[in-house]
Amino acid sequence: MNTDLVIRTFIEYFEERGHRRISGSTLLPPPGDPVLFTTSGMHPLTPYLEGRPHPLGRRLVNVQRCLRTTDLEEVGDATHLTVFQMLGTWSLGDYEGPLSLDWGYGLLTEGLGVDPGLLHATVFGGDERLGPDTASLRLWQERGVPVELTVEDNWWSNGPVGPCGPDSEIFLWTGDTPPRSTPTRDDRWVEVWNHVMMRHRRLEDGSVVPLPQRNVDTGLGVERLASLLQGRSSVFECDVFDPWRRLLPPLWPLDEPSLRLVCDHLRSAVVVIGDGVRPAATGRGYVLRRLVRRVLTVLWRDDRSRSLGDLPQELVVHTLDHFRQHGDPGAVHRLLLEEERRFGRLLERGRQVLARPRFRGPLTDEDFHHLHDTHGLPRDLVMSLREE
Ligand code: ALA
Repeated sequence: MNTDLVIRTFIEYFEERGHRRISGSTLLPPPGDPVLFTTSGMHPLTPYLEGRPHPLGRRLVNVQRCLRTTDLEEVGDATHLTVFQMLGTWSLGDYEGPLSLDWGYGLLTEGLGVDPGLLHATVFGGDERLGPDTASLRLWQERGVPVELTVEDNWWSNGPVGPCGPDSEIFLWTGDTPPRSTPTRDDRWVEVWNHVMMRHRRLEDGSVVPLPQRNVDTGLGVERLASLLQGRSSVFECDVFDPWRRLLPPLWPLDEPSLRLVCDHLRSAVVVIGDGVRPAATGRGYVLRRLVRRVLTVLWRDDRSRSLGDLPQELVVHTLDHFRQHGDPGAVHRLLLEEERRFGRLLERGRQVLARPRFRGPLTDEDFHHLHDTHGLPRDLVMSLREE
């Protein structure tokens, strides 16, 4: 089952249950949202979770591109991507959590053919403010799905302030043996679907108050689920990466961890540029810059002549299509190349500056400030140049 079919099956299943499809937004969250990029399908829906009536009603479904910089260090493992697609459903003050979980169970087992014996759930076990989520616990017990209770891992919030609530996560067993242990103790349990009982709001002072309505917000990572359904051992082997795996290794022979990083970061950079972000020294533009520079650092480690100018246009087109973006692939390519040239010049200047006697010994904070303010050399770049 390829990713397109997973998306279609999901959307149709929820349309049959009264949900209206809304179009996904860009990676740039609406003004006032506390995060730099859209990290989940609920971002564009915040006003509606907070009580404003949605023009399409109380049951919604969509697919939303998301970017998570918190996962940047984990990229390269079997389950994390920087940019990915999230399927989402919402009950805006309509049905409650147990029905959402029951539909989730039905879609996974009957709609997508997952063996029910490979599922595990986690549920909010309660803390000093709120009791345990007994309604979710009961639903899973009725379905015969094992449950683990946790506290922090089963509380979801959209950044430091805003809508939040207890959640119930569905995990799928990926081990070679029959399932054993629990999701917090064995990472062969992979999280596939999060159902958040979005009923609270966290305020600036840290307190948590009820939202005007009881919502449910769910999110499922498409590439992760598709790779599991396809029996692949990592997200980098699902169908989305087929053209990358076909075209990149002949161009740039890389070991597997480096290939994963290059595919992930280049693909992410294309999508971020496709949503109108340009490289910059701060904010979103800096995230983009870091993505491109990490790729170049890996590529140039073995061969300084490698260039993003050689990146096959097909990969740019494929990525923009996958994320339903309409940008000009040629313009994306030119931007990547410009950023590569800027980085090349910066490295050159950095090497010359760092060769001066003043910078040969241990560096003080003042040196780092001087290198940054006068020569435009960020601390992490200085550190990596000194390791060369
Ligand atoms: N908003 C929830 C998440 O991203 C569904 O996990």
